[in-house]
Amino acid sequence: MRTIAIANQKGGCGKTTVSINLAACLAREGRRTLLVDMDPQGHCALGLAVPEDQIEVSIYEVLAAAGGTNGDRIDISRSIWQITANFDLSPATTALAQFERDMSSKPDSEERLGSVLSTVNDKYDFALIDCPPHIGLLTRSALAAASEVIIPVDTGYFSLQGLSKQIETVEAIRSRREQPLEIRVLANLYDVRTKLGREILNELKRKFGPLMCSTFINFNTKLREGASFGQPITEYDPGSMGFRDFVRLARELVAAGGPEMVPTTLLRQADELAAKAQELLATSRPLFGKGGFEEGRIAQAAGEPVSHEAIQQKIEQIYGVRKTDEGVLFVAEAPSARQVCLAGDFNGWSPTATPMQRLESGQGFRAMLPLGPGRYRYRYVVDGQWGMDQHNNMMTDERDHPHFHSPRWRRDSVPFSSASSSPDSRCEIG
Ligand SMILES: Nc1ncnc2c1ncn2[C@@H]1O[C@H](COP(=O)(O)OP(=O)(O)OP(=O)(O)O)[C@@H](O)[C@H]1O
Ligand SMILES: [Mg+2]
Repeated sequence: MRTIAIANQKGGCGKTTVSINLAACLAREGRRTLLVDMDPQGHCALGLAVPEDQIEVSIYEVLAAAGGTNGDRIDISRSIWQITANFDLSPATTALAQFERDMSSKPDSEERLGSVLSTVNDKYDFALIDCPPHIGLLTRSALAAASEVIIPVDTGYFSLQGLSKQIETVEAIRSRREQPLEIRVLANLYDVRTKLGREILNELKRKFGPLMCSTFINFNTKLREGASFGQPITEYDPGSMGFRDFVRLARELVAAGGPEMVPTTLLRQADELAAKAQELLATSRPLFGKGGFEEGRIAQAAGEPVSHEAIQQKIEQIYGVRKTDEGVLFVAEAPSARQVCLAGDFNGWSPTATPMQRLESGQGFRAMLPLGPGRYRYRYVVDGQWGMDQHNNMMTDERDHPHFHSPRWRRDSVPFSSASSSPDSRCEIG
């Protein structure tokens, strides 16, 4: 997991805008991304339509309990809200100000965020941390947890007022750290039409040349509008300049990579895949029976060497959605679930009306529905929690619900609206 703090003590330079939209674009590029809000203003929740009054566990509770014994600790997953596929948020509320106030004297306070994030190291490819507009305990915690920092710098009309302060931030961060910290300066609110904007960008390049992101973020009102609708730009306007800039930034960051990180991640994925293959090969026969569904293609004996593509194919053949002679077969992977139900357009999004049957292998659940031709949206409700089908890449997207103000749901609860825009899984029956 690459942990990137978004920091600048100047208020309004775009920290939250960058955090939200970069996270959404990394997620869109297929990177599992966690955004942690370390600003008591709670603007990430606001900008992503997470209702503050429904936040029961925020990052504050997680950090406050992190100093306790094992039994007292609160898992960060309890604070997490799913925003889109691959994009989770651990939100902040005004309570976070207490952390700064009460914990500053505690010797471990600055390390707590880092140790909390280390517990989800394997779950995410990126953790982004939105910082408040001052350098206190919260920003210091973010910088201690991060191995990279992005410093958005305002190149817009009001930037002259704060430019020297923003530059000081970069210098201060650079001088304070002992461990390596990759610094990137990101020009934001750039207006190419103004002479001032062009001059400031040139000045930044002159001063910070190699630290500058090659991407800069143009001034784009769609970014502001999206935030007021509670939507990242990926949902609000994928045709906008703001979208294009953030996709470019996400790709620049992914391409920059972490030198040692890439091979270890690949190795880990390869290991996981190999283990999965063994499991699937062992369970494929009892799943479908002799001469049964896909028998011919899953006939490979357990233990035989298999190619990467073959493993992927097998995973896809077993789990997911497909049309059969008897109807549409949904097969969900949920090895440790007690109960899985299927909810979708076809049953009025009832979380209980269509219970699925456990597979003989114990690794998943199945349901066969007599659906006619059409386009269906669905989710699995696994032990009461809504989730999309991880073996089906077809999801509803913004084109289905342009500008829809989508409600969010917490990972560990069921508040849900059948009309929410994403990420329902989708299937089309011909
Ligand atoms: N590239 C941009 N184009 C247009 N508006 C932008 C852009 N970047 C940020 N804004 C707008 O500028 C305002 C301040 O941005 P934002 O809240 O992201 O700054 P911030 O650094 O997080 O502020 P704070 O320091 O208060 O946390 C917001 O209204 C936001 O929508
Ligand atoms: Mg902010």
